[in-house]
Amino acid sequence: MGRVQGKVALVTGGAMGMGKTHSEELAQEGAHVFVTDRDVAAGEAVVKGIVAAGGKADFIKHDVTSENDWNSVIAAITKKAGHLDILVNNAGILILKPAHETTNDEWDSVFNVNVRGVWLGIRACVPLMKGRKASIINISSIYGIVGAPMAGAYIASKGAVRLLTKSCAVDLIQFGIRVNSVHPGVIDTEMTKDLLHGAAEVRKAIMGATLFDRPCQPVEVSKAVLFLASDDSSFVHGAEILVDGGYIAN
Ligand SMILES: NC(=O)c1ccc[n+]([C@@H]2O[C@H](COP(=O)([O-])OP(=O)(O)OC[C@H]3O[C@@H](n4cnc5c(N)ncnc54)[C@H](O)[C@@H]3O)[C@@H](O)[C@H]2O)c1
Repeated sequence: MGRVQGKVALVTGGAMGMGKTHSEELAQEGAHVFVTDRDVAAGEAVVKGIVAAGGKADFIKHDVTSENDWNSVIAAITKKAGHLDILVNNAGILILKPAHETTNDEWDSVFNVNVRGVWLGIRACVPLMKGRKASIINISSIYGIVGAPMAGAYIASKGAVRLLTKSCAVDLIQFGIRVNSVHPGVIDTEMTKDLLHGAAEVRKAIMGATLFDRPCQPVEVSKAVLFLASDDSSFVHGAEILVDGGYIAN
C-alpha cells in the first residue's frame, strides 16, 4: 500500500526538474498524478515514464499564468477523476538580476508565474478539494526566507508564496484542506545548471553557505513533498519545511 494510495494529485511544472521527481514519487506511492506544464514534449515523456513503471498519470498542457488554462485543467481532472486530493504548486521561473536593474516586464513575468500562478491554482482547485482531507503544497525557496544577491524579483516572489501559504492555511482549514510551503536550498536542476556547472567560483559562492559539500538532488525535495501530501503529515499545517542542507542554520 503506497503512502498516497488512491489519491488524486496535480503537479504544475511537472515536465522537468523537481516537478518531474514530485510526479514520479507521488505516482510510485499510489497516486493518480495529473502532470501539467507548458512544455508538452517533456511533460508527455514524464507521464510515459510513470505509466511504463506501472503508475497512473495524465499530461495536460498548462500555462499557470492563464486562468483559461486552469479552467481546462480543472475540467479535465473533474471528468477523469471527479476530485483532487493533492495540489503541488511547483512551476516557477528565475531571473538573475538585482531588483534595481530589473525591468517592468521581467518583474511581472516572475510574479505572474511564481505568485499569480500559485494563487490561481489555489482558487481553481479548492472546489475540487473541499472535504477530502486534501493537501496543498506550495514550492517557495530558502530565498523566500532570506535574501541573496542578484535575484530581487525571484526572492520577493518566493517570500509572497511563503505568506500566501500561511494566509490560505488560516482560510482553508474549514474545508479540511492543509496548506504548507516547501523551501528548497540549492537544487541541481535546469534552473540552476549554469550556476552549479559553470565557473568554479560561482559554484563555490552558491554552495558556500550550505553545510553539505554538494547540491541537493531533486528527489530529496520530493520526499518532503510526499510527506506533506500524505496523511503522515495530518497535523502539519501552515508550516514551512526547509530542504536546504543546513543553509539557513549557517
Ligand atoms: N532549482 C533550485 O535550486 C530551486 C531552489 C528553490 C526553489 N526552487 C523552486 O522549485 C520549483 C521547481 O524548480 P526547478 O529547479 O525544478 O525548475 P526547472 O526550471 O528545472 O523546471 C521548472 C518547470 O516549470 C515549468 N514552467 C515554467 N513556467 C511555467 C508556466 N508559466 N506554466 C507552466 N509550467 C511552467 C517549466 O516548463 C519546467 O518544466 C520552482 O518553483 C523553483 O522556483 C528551485
